[in-house]
Amino acid sequence: MKHEVQVETMRTLLSLRERQRNQDMLDEVVQLPVRIYTDADILRQEMATVFRHYPMLAGHASHVREAGSYLLSDWAKFPYVVVRGQDGRLRAFLNTCRHRGARIVSGKEERLKAFVCPFHGWTYGLDGNLRSVTRSHNFPGLDCKQYGLHELPVIEHAGLIWIHPTPGARMDLPAYLGPIGEDLQHFGLDDLVSYRKNTVIKHANWKLLIKTYLEGYHVPFLHRETLSRAFHRGVIAHLEHGLHIRLAAARTNVLDALQVDSASWRILDYASVYYSLFPHTFFIMHPDYVSINSFYPEAPDCTIWTHEMLYRATEFKGEEGQAALAKRFAYTNDAVFDNEDFAVAEHVQSGLLYGANEFHTLGLEEGLLAVFQQNIERAMMQHKPSLPAGERGGVRSHGLPELS
Ligand code: FES
Ligand SMILES: [Fe+2]
Repeated sequence: MKHEVQVETMRTLLSLRERQRNQDMLDEVVQLPVRIYTDADILRQEMATVFRHYPMLAGHASHVREAGSYLLSDWAKFPYVVVRGQDGRLRAFLNTCRHRGARIVSGKEERLKAFVCPFHGWTYGLDGNLRSVTRSHNFPGLDCKQYGLHELPVIEHAGLIWIHPTPGARMDLPAYLGPIGEDLQHFGLDDLVSYRKNTVIKHANWKLLIKTYLEGYHVPFLHRETLSRAFHRGVIAHLEHGLHIRLAAARTNVLDALQVDSASWRILDYASVYYSLFPHTFFIMHPDYVSINSFYPEAPDCTIWTHEMLYRATEFKGEEGQAALAKRFAYTNDAVFDNEDFAVAEHVQSGLLYGANEFHTLGLEEGLLAVFQQNIERAMMQHKPSLPAGERGGVRSHGLPELS
């Protein structure tokens, strides 16, 4: 985040803190129908639109710096591999053999020199071209040029790798991310090192998991024993760009900033900054590390959650540094996300079965959940224009006409 943006956001937070209110989100109570979390047809529509027509964050650039290094998808439904070629170029392919569709790269390989399919040994170059077919006499007339791996658009931007699920799609990340991309760039993500990545199945809808991050209302209650001290009387300022959302949450010490010249303010000393990167990633900034959380739907009530923590090596040196990182990871990943936020999300999901609530009712402080949901529905409508309005998930104002 550029310094002037930090100062501007800090000023917003200080004035919100004075009024003890969050920045206005949606200014009315809204209801979300719970079928958006249970309906297999809605998930099918999300898969065909939200997870098909937008760039997705694939991971940190450090994973694909050297020739032959690669990054694999964590989601079997969208099996890609991003690889750095011997020519230094980054490419992405569907990790699926053109013969009979076996997965080519398993993740056990240290570095790739070529793609060799484990099923019948077809070999592809790191440029995706089919180089050789085993027992090729069995394939008379096969034109190798027609059997290259399916290539996907991939780009490195702001220290992160972005992939597009649609072959040939154009990615303009600076426009797509706008000021949020500038924030990420300014943070210097390039210099971070991956500490650890966790991949876990959660029995809750992917949107329900992401939504646990989008309001501070629950913090004093659900996180009474963990985060609440850091966010006592916390308020949230937010920014929307396209389908993405930035949240800055004032920490308990935010008023201390008033004792210091704004020229030396660093927002992360007084606030936590989060990004909901459409569609499936929640990105958390800390002064010396970041958490990247991504959510991949397996079924309406089942989601793959990945959490990668990256850190600034200069801040965590030696054994002591590693011990501090281990502590932070356990705190964030296990104590806060897994045992508190996502445990509740799983309870909510299982409770949906018996129909206690037809809707979830969102107060004003929970407006960003509705914004996130509207963004999903906007994307669904845009790419499925023939869908009748009643078939949308349907963010609904409380007693008012449907939001457009
Ligand atoms: S499926 Fe890959 S070589 Fe047969
Ligand atoms: Fe939480």
